[in-house]
Amino acid sequence: MTVALAFDIYGTLIDPHGVVSELQRHVGDRAAEFSRIWREKQLEYTWRRGLMGKYRDFGVCTRQALEYADLLLQTGLDEDAYTALMQAYRVLPAYQDVPASLAKLKQAGHRLYPFSNGTPEMVDAVLKHAAIDEYFEGVISVDSLRTFKPSPEVYGQVIKIAAVEPESCWLVSSNAFDVIGAVAAGIKAAWLKRFDGVIFDPWEFEPTCVIQSLDELPQLVE
Ligand code: LAC
Repeated sequence: MTVALAFDIYGTLIDPHGVVSELQRHVGDRAAEFSRIWREKQLEYTWRRGLMGKYRDFGVCTRQALEYADLLLQTGLDEDAYTALMQAYRVLPAYQDVPASLAKLKQAGHRLYPFSNGTPEMVDAVLKHAAIDEYFEGVISVDSLRTFKPSPEVYGQVIKIAAVEPESCWLVSSNAFDVIGAVAAGIKAAWLKRFDGVIFDPWEFEPTCVIQSLDELPQLVE
C-alpha cells in the first residue's frame, strides 16, 4: 500500500542547532545557550502570531528570534553577524540517519513530502544543500495558509495535497507539539524521539508510535 509521509523539517530531518559552529565565531562559549534560546523563541513567535492572526513568514520569525536572543544575552551582534547567522540557517545539516531512510522509503514506492513552517523557498534551499531534495515531492508549507503548526488547517492541507485517506497519511516529527497537532487533526503521527531525556507532553493525545531513529520507519509503514 502506498503511504504518504509528511516529514517535519527543523528538528526532524535538519538540525537547527547546526548553527552552533557559526555562533561560536560570534558569541564564543555561549553558542549552545544562544542556539537554544533562538530556537525556542522562533517557535514561540510562530504560536503567538498564529493565535493573533498576525502572520509573518518563518524567515521573519527566525530573524526576530535571533534578535531576541542577542538582546537577552547582550551579545551585541552587528549586521554582518546577523547576515552570517541567517545564511547559516539556510545551510543547516541533515541528521545522520536521514538520507538512507528516505532512500529506502522512496524505493518502497511511498510518497514523501517536506512539511514545514518554513517557506517553500527556505525549505527547498536547506534540502538542496543537504542533498536530500531528490527524495521528495513538492514542499508542503504553512505559508500558503498564512498560519503555523499546529493549526488544524495545516494538517488538513497535508491530507489534501497528498490525496490519500487519512489512515494512509503519516506525519513524522520530533516536535511533540507537531505530533499532537497531527493526531488531533486525524492523521497518524510518528514521534521521533531523537534524544534521551526528551518527554512527550502529557496531554490527551498520544503519538501513533514512537521511534528512536528514522531507520525504523520503512518497516513501520509497510
Ligand atoms: C518545522 C518546524 C516545526 O519545520 O520546525 O515546521
